[in-house]
Amino acid sequence: MSKIISGFSKYSKSEKINWLVNTYFSNPDDARVILEQYLHSNEKLQQLHDEFIENTVSNYFLPLGVAPNFLINGKTYAIPMAIEESSVVAAASKAAKFWLDRGGFKTKVISTKKIGQVHFMYRGNAQRLHAYFKSIKTQLFADTDALTANMKKRGGGILDIELRDKTDALANYYQLHVTFETLDAMGANFINSCLEQFAKTLKNEALNFKGFTEEEHHIDIVMSILSNYVPECVVRAEVSCPVADLQEKEGVSGVEFAEKFVQAVTIAEIEPYRAVTHNKGIMNGVDAVVLATGNDFRAIEAGVHAYAAKDGAYSSLSHAKIEDGVFRFWVDLPLALGTVGGLTGLHPLVKFALELLGKPSAKELMQIVAVAGLAQNFAALRSLTTTGIQQGHMKMHLMNILNQFEASNKEKTKLSSYFKDTTVTHSAVAEALNDLRR
Ligand code: MEV
Repeated sequence: MSKIISGFSKYSKSEKINWLVNTYFSNPDDARVILEQYLHSNEKLQQLHDEFIENTVSNYFLPLGVAPNFLINGKTYAIPMAIEESSVVAAASKAAKFWLDRGGFKTKVISTKKIGQVHFMYRGNAQRLHAYFKSIKTQLFADTDALTANMKKRGGGILDIELRDKTDALANYYQLHVTFETLDAMGANFINSCLEQFAKTLKNEALNFKGFTEEEHHIDIVMSILSNYVPECVVRAEVSCPVADLQEKEGVSGVEFAEKFVQAVTIAEIEPYRAVTHNKGIMNGVDAVVLATGNDFRAIEAGVHAYAAKDGAYSSLSHAKIEDGVFRFWVDLPLALGTVGGLTGLHPLVKFALELLGKPSAKELMQIVAVAGLAQNFAALRSLTTTGIQQGHMKMHLMNILNQFEASNKEKTKLSSYFKDTTVTHSAVAEALNDLRR
């Protein structure tokens, strides 16, 4: 059977499934069962999913967990996290509890500007282009009035439009570099619609501008698109406490803990190999909340990693220091998030997650997400610099190993209790399970 098909999107769902399983699978019935068991019995919900994207053949589930006990600026939250990695929610919960007794997390939104660009080619004199831009700047704003009316009413809109000369990097290349305030919306549609209107005005008005030579009337628009790099849409999350308060019942002293912790952060600041993994740990927390609240985690990932390299080398997003006996640990993250629009009003679990968080504004969500990132980073560094990461990680991974061996519930209960005081490794679990089954 040919593996190439045309008109696939026009097929009904069952026709799509039939074609797929019969074309690509040695056991079509088994493959069909896998797809069909994840289709929702609630038709309305399934239709919603079918309409999110093209060619839906099933649903891809991730666990939705909750990390309670987060104290942020004096308010408590239970944070929803959608993630598959065993130890993430447990680590977040542990960090939340740790800081609950030490004043909680403090956060501050530093800025909320978003950026979009019209990229275009102009083959002419730069000064005359600047004169042209000056002459149409008011019109650029005016031509988007219909698009921006609602946003303006709520206090947002277009903040500024700049002409940028990029001809040093690429011949004839210029940009309209535009800044926006999109309030509680992530704003991608709003920004892109405004940009496309700017592009039209920019191209059309050039045809009539008296100050141009014949050739200069023709501006070539390459593309108009928002930027997911948002270094001016930044939030800070922070924890601090006297070094002595870091001491727990057992284990290392507060000073020892703090000093090693700061060393670990400093290594991530200066060593890109470590920085990537360090930041990955931060993104464990960030992405899980971003996903649970229906935001675009790819946009967040791209923007955050660009920010981590903003000074010319990839570096840690978080920082730590000890000053006058006080330990401080903080992260600055560029987060363009929305709590209205997109999936936020559509996906039932997203609605649930937002309500769980007290229907936050976008600014509030930025703060919660940054806290989840910092908490995750704290938990990872705490394990790494004390017991090592594997102890906690493998404890959480135990269930995955047991499931691989198709352990029964009874076996799981017995082995969970056995491995409370024994190191979990794949082979140790296999052996313990064999002993049990013998
Ligand atoms: C694992 O998902 C994340 C960590 O590797 C982060 C880190 O090393 O800081 C534990």
